[in-house]
Amino acid sequence: MAEPQAHIVFPRTGQECQVEVQDTLVDATFRYDLPIRYRCERAVCTTCLTEVLEGIGNLSEPTEREKQTLAAIRAEAHWRLACQVSVLGDVKLDYIPITDPRRKPETTEDKTVF
Ligand code: FES
Repeated sequence: MAEPQAHIVFPRTGQECQVEVQDTLVDATFRYDLPIRYRCERAVCTTCLTEVLEGIGNLSEPTEREKQTLAAIRAEAHWRLACQVSVLGDVKLDYIPITDPRRKPETTEDKTVF
């Protein structure tokens, strides 16, 4: 019997793919060459920061570690760390590169040591 599938779409680049439910976004990125970059895969570096345009309820709940890292960079509520996320249903996403102006500039108060 086939595994349940989820549809991932990147409207800005036009890329899309079908993944098995429970795959992580990094699994999908590796397999389908999606426009998400990643490094640490441990919710530390934020390289994999991704905006969820639709379907945020179709992603796994953030771990405490992911919540801490997102708070440290003052992330919007609909941003996630792709390396920490399992896909549970259809989503539309947009990758936020390190140099993207959507990221807020760091202040000295934001310095978090991991
Ligand atoms: S790859 Fe470093 S936080 Fe996701």
